Amino acid sequence: MFNKIRLWKKQNNNSSTLRDNIEKIKKMPVPEHVAIIMDGNGRWAKKRALPRVAGHHEGMKVVRKITKLSNMLGIKALTLYAFSTENWKRPKNEVDYLMKLPEEFLGSFLPELIEENVQVRMIGYKDQLPIHTLNAIEKAIDDTKNNDGLVLNFALNYGSRAEIIDATVQVLNDYKSGILNESDINEELFSSYLMTSNLKDPDLLIRTSGEIRLSNFMLWQLAYSEFWFTDVLWPDFGEQHLLEAVEAFQNRQRRFGGV
Ligand code: IPE
Ligand code: IPE
Ligand code: MG
Repeated sequence: MFNKIRLWKKQNNNSSTLRDNIEKIKKMPVPEHVAIIMDGNGRWAKKRALPRVAGHHEGMKVVRKITKLSNMLGIKALTLYAFSTENWKRPKNEVDYLMKLPEEFLGSFLPELIEENVQVRMIGYKDQLPIHTLNAIEKAIDDTKNNDGLVLNFALNYGSRAEIIDATVQVLNDYKSGILNESDINEELFSSYLMTSNLKDPDLLIRTSGEIRLSNFMLWQLAYSEFWFTDVLWPDFGEQHLLEAVEAFQNRQRRFGGV
């Protein structure tokens, strides 16, 4: 009984601290676009002697929490790196599991996303995705297309170098067919040929699990983003960690090459 009361008090204290922290963060401008390389699911599972896929399952729950909090904070877009063009190199059972996660995630959370005015989007190569994965994503995109709250953008089968090459080829084709002149080709035009054409560049990039690299993620778009790396593994990433990252962002001075 006493333990229960103590636990209740502890939880209540934690949630009021969280609420206070959210209010504090909201007093200063928050990043408009946050991109996250969600890494460390495998190591989280390994530490518990569980199969790697258990880490992916746990990681999915974190996506829900972080989406909700991002929306509450007034962040406009959240891009989550869920599967890279290089992740096909993993064992088949792991790839199969990862390709089932969008269905599982959206199967349970889509009504909540609709309710919360979230718009689901995707960047990445759709062609190679299994049809069941693509159907789940496309249904979510369609069901939320009229929402105008947080953009929840999944990077799925995404690779930045391939994206840049494809954009280059499209620019070349439009030049050859006379739609573009050489003088039209500038940074703004090139950006509009990328998969992120309808999103502003990320203001803040977060990577979990202690790896300090981009792993082929948004190489063009991250040119002037603020980076925040943490050793926390993705399944352990909680609301306080996102608040910590946003607070660090608020204390950065962005100069974009100026003084
Ligand atoms: C990130 O976790 C999820 C994906 C890349 C799909 P990992 O599966 O890379 O976890 P680690 O890096 O092996 O711990
Ligand atoms: C990057 O993580 C891709 C995703 C988080 C989806 P990886 O775990 O695949 O990256 P590397 O292999 O450590 O660079
Ligand atoms: Mg990894």
